[in-house]
Amino acid sequence: MIDYSERIPNNVNLAEDKVLQRALERWQPGFRDWWSGTGPADSSELLVYLRTAISVDRDGWANFGYVKMPDYRWGIFLVPRDEHRQVNFGDHKGDAAWQEVPGEYRSPLRRIIVTQGDTEPASVEQQRLLGMTAPSLYDLRNLFQVNVEEGRHLWAMVYLLHRYFGRDGREEAEGLLERRSGDADKPRILTAFNEETRHWLAFFMFTFFTDRDGKFQLASLAESGFDPLARTCRFMLTEEAHHMFVGESGVARVVQRTCDEMQKRGLEDPAAGREFGIIDLATIQKFLNFHYSVTLDLYGSDVSSNAATYYTSGLKGRYEETKLSDDHKLSGADYPVAEVENGRIVTKQIPALNALNARLRDDYIGEIQAGVDRWNRIPEKFGMKFRLTLPHIGFHRKIGNFAGHHITPDGQVISEAEFAARAGEWLPTRADHDYVESLMGRVIEPGKFANWIAPPVRGVNNQPIEFEYVRFN
Ligand SMILES: [Fe+2]
Ligand SMILES: [Fe+2]
Repeated sequence: MIDYSERIPNNVNLAEDKVLQRALERWQPGFRDWWSGTGPADSSELLVYLRTAISVDRDGWANFGYVKMPDYRWGIFLVPRDEHRQVNFGDHKGDAAWQEVPGEYRSPLRRIIVTQGDTEPASVEQQRLLGMTAPSLYDLRNLFQVNVEEGRHLWAMVYLLHRYFGRDGREEAEGLLERRSGDADKPRILTAFNEETRHWLAFFMFTFFTDRDGKFQLASLAESGFDPLARTCRFMLTEEAHHMFVGESGVARVVQRTCDEMQKRGLEDPAAGREFGIIDLATIQKFLNFHYSVTLDLYGSDVSSNAATYYTSGLKGRYEETKLSDDHKLSGADYPVAEVENGRIVTKQIPALNALNARLRDDYIGEIQAGVDRWNRIPEKFGMKFRLTLPHIGFHRKIGNFAGHHITPDGQVISEAEFAARAGEWLPTRADHDYVESLMGRVIEPGKFANWIAPPVRGVNNQPIEFEYVRFN
């Protein structure tokens, strides 16, 4: 007999739920194989200072201690149920929130859960090799923390599939372990999750830009009328905050280190400094351009009837739906969306119901801009003129109104040929990747950091920066 509350910390009454136990027991060996085969490389013997969620209480969700990752206790948590919760938007507004899947929404809900669930293992696969070149023990530990929590997010989605979707759900849960990031035959569902994360600058950009897309997707699912989905996503958001912190502080530390060296050497050109082993600001800007643009594609088409259906059905709300003051049905409302018309970018008012993807993306951009502004305080402090900027939303897009058009970072519509000729000014080239990769090398002495990145301001969980965050036996 497995002691479920010990092996799998949970607040879903797993010990009493025989059907769920059987489904999870069948799925778990596959998950373990997946973790050892495609999770963090060469990591199974390391002792890692990780936090584990063991309950949803204030001091239960972040328990710190040394763990071997294959023994990590991936738990299943939903924020506690509010008995009075209602469907807060769409056609069913005012009804009691659904505790079971409404028959007519079974297939779109399953689709939503599978699409979200697929991103979680995908990012672990993308980051598989990064541990080999971690710039410090502190960073190595943060990478592993993100990885185990994405593993837990996969569990969270699998729980919903097993518990609420019967046989179809079990099949989808298997599928989540079968697809592979970047695989030609069985790729992950969303394009950005099939890109390689080849080095730590890409990792920090990914956790800043793409995990924050995760936050906005989870936040809009946390509004769902299907209560178990809402409560699951709500809990995942508490963990997601750390992933975005890793990204934002990671990029900030790279910028800090670069500005430091530039000042010491009297450099002003943003493209200068490679001979000193730092990542020049111009290169950082190119990676920002790349990760931002591919992440914008994750929001889907600007004009989307699917998004409208998800909303009117009560399945997926807007960001902070219940804090907005309107009719929560969007009847007669419009929303501005940009597109290309006769070689120019124009903004049109379209029915707000059809613009929900664009709206969620715009909410996202607001937070991203605030993060970039925080990064820019660093060159400002050094008295440097350089600032990082977000490219135009039409830049380098493959999905939505700008797909098939060629837009410069400052929003000029140009020809395909001109874009191709200038792409290397705006996006990382092979040589840029090679350069950044050439800097990567594992640093495992406690308190030491690779030359291209500054130490963090503080350690994890009040531990000193020189704490032994990972133990190699
Ligand atoms: Fe996640
Ligand atoms: Fe995440």
